[in-house]
Amino acid sequence: MSVGIEHIYAYAPQHALPLPALAEARGVPAEKLTQGLGVRAMAVPLPCEDVVTLAATAGARCLRAAGVDPRTIGMLVVATETGVDHSKPVSIFVHELLGIGPHCRTYEVKHACYGGTAALMTAADWVRANRTKARRALVIAADIARYALGSPGEPTQGAGAVAMLVGPEPRALFLSEESGVHASNVYDFWRPLDRREALVDGKYSIECYLDALTGAFRAFRDLERPALEEGEGLVDRLAQLLYHAPFPKMAAKAHRRLLEVDRGGTTDEIYAASYRDLVAPGLEAVSQVGNTYTASLYFCLASLLEDEGRTLSGRRIGLFSYGSGCCAEFFTGVVPASAASLGATGVRASLAGRQLIDVPTYEQLLHDSEQGGRAPADFTGEFVFHGIRDDRRIYGRAREALAA
Ligand code: CAA
Repeated sequence: MSVGIEHIYAYAPQHALPLPALAEARGVPAEKLTQGLGVRAMAVPLPCEDVVTLAATAGARCLRAAGVDPRTIGMLVVATETGVDHSKPVSIFVHELLGIGPHCRTYEVKHACYGGTAALMTAADWVRANRTKARRALVIAADIARYALGSPGEPTQGAGAVAMLVGPEPRALFLSEESGVHASNVYDFWRPLDRREALVDGKYSIECYLDALTGAFRAFRDLERPALEEGEGLVDRLAQLLYHAPFPKMAAKAHRRLLEVDRGGTTDEIYAASYRDLVAPGLEAVSQVGNTYTASLYFCLASLLEDEGRTLSGRRIGLFSYGSGCCAEFFTGVVPASAASLGATGVRASLAGRQLIDVPTYEQLLHDSEQGGRAPADFTGEFVFHGIRDDRRIYGRAREALAA
């Protein structure tokens, strides 16, 4: 059975801090952030937004755009490393906010930024496992990336969610059944239970990412080897490559490594042309939103399909997912002809009409984060976190649902 992503929809908070302003406040050259890391702005949530409201907004818009009744969803998985409770999963709040029926398997998954891919693969297997009845799963990857103020990780923060409807009639991406996986226990990035901000060994995390890419890509390439012509690289068969992008420059480093592994070496000229054609088109959104951890790779996918769905029709793309700690997976997908009529995937809508904030406002929002509260009149999300009462989190609808 062909299984894949039937619809995809992204959402990012409407407030954003331009990175040159952060650079000035932290006393570093703006080019270090805009060119060295490749980030231009980071999305910053309001106190009335948390990972549940981000996930639910993306999920509601995905279901509406796909024209799917929430009550027909048989599985809802939310991937996040921004959990709101040690026991109660983000998914059960989302389940209620979306009006999904009671006969639905629902849970939260965690493996750092790899969680979104773990959820997607599990959902695809669940759809494949029942060949007699078409069934659909909703997978949502959602995160708020947070590092200590003034730390090297601070410019790589961000927030957002991507919802994917997984089923037997993919209009966004047919998923390959095979993939290459790499796992190993490393302390590159982690968040102890009592901390809100992540701890990271930054330079080491880049090494771990590249090692995991090498391992996962080699495993996938070995599976494909019989189909490759003498001297042909796997990359030659791919129309685009999407990488987990904590910051866009990481994808650039990854692509150079991939070419080296695939072809046994590369030159600056070959790499530059390949990066421009195969990688850069998918990175525009993350340079404006920042790291969304589990959602990052899928922000790239949503952005690519919104911009290039028509031209990629019938073509195969490669995707690399990395989660610190670590687990990584390289897989491919074919963009169906129907992607030409997929329509909006929420990326452009998330970036249009954003409110740019200054550093004092950003620091105040961080200070007030997740306190709950009222949504402003021009709020673009659909759900609101009101706050915590009697140790219980209270959510509601921002107003009547906006058209997707
Ligand atoms: N103009 C242009 N470029 C400049 C510059 C200037 N004036 N000054 C510095 N640069 C360049 C540097 O040369 C460097 O580029 P290269 O890596 O290509 O050499 C780049 O800007 C960054 O400079 P530094 O390495 O000195 O930056 P840093 O030490 O302050 O921090 C970082 C970089 C380690 C990535 C840090 O941002 C960090 O810790 N980020 C969080 C961890 C992370 O994202 N890791 C990625 C892999 S792990 C993962 O992917 C999971 C996840 O989502 C977290």
